Amino acid sequence: MKRLNTLVLNITVTIIDYLYRGRDFQRFWVLEEIARAPYFAFLSVLHFRESLGLRGQWHLHLMKEHFEQSVNETEHLEYMESRDGNRYWIDRFVARHLVLVYYWINVVYYWLAPMSAYHLSEEIELHAAETYAEYLTRFPKDVKIWEIMNDEIHHWQELREAARIIHPDRLTVNEKDAEPFPPDVSDLGVTTQIIGYQEHELISETTK
Ligand SMILES: [Fe+2]
Ligand SMILES: [Fe+2]
Repeated sequence: MKRLNTLVLNITVTIIDYLYRGRDFQRFWVLEEIARAPYFAFLSVLHFRESLGLRGQWHLHLMKEHFEQSVNETEHLEYMESRDGNRYWIDRFVARHLVLVYYWINVVYYWLAPMSAYHLSEEIELHAAETYAEYLTRFPKDVKIWEIMNDEIHHWQELREAARIIHPDRLTVNEKDAEPFPPDVSDLGVTTQIIGYQEHELISETTK
């Protein structure tokens, strides 16, 4: 399933990269519009499972976390709107149709294979962070985008943690405390590590 996730994501990214070349904020707006859908889907499935009496010990933790992530993604979306990301009808048309399909895919996927659904979203969060990292190599003083990029990395870490605690062998929240968090970030993309370093430098300079 992980290979399928990566393949589908790579194809989608190639298409979006082609369609949105040279249009950074329209691309960011479309990505943010789509990025929210998995969190809505996770919440829907968790609510539904709970209604059927299938509430696990990790349930409330995940519901709170996915709610906060969906709010945070909405804040990103609003920011992209403030920078004209949704200005054109065609971008709104593309994003709103994509999100309709993607939401339902995530509902089914999370119900049937939650670990794989989390993996797909981890890949998307990582792609979002790398997309912002690439933009920041061109516009390093865009402080708000640094902030948003860090949020994406944070979401990626939270999804990894969520996938770990719902692993069939580790069904309790308590067990998650037994292992270190956040996870090792050495498997983040090289670009993002470099950007993280540059950001540190930037913050040091602005506080002088
Ligand atoms: Fe975002
Ligand atoms: Fe995100």
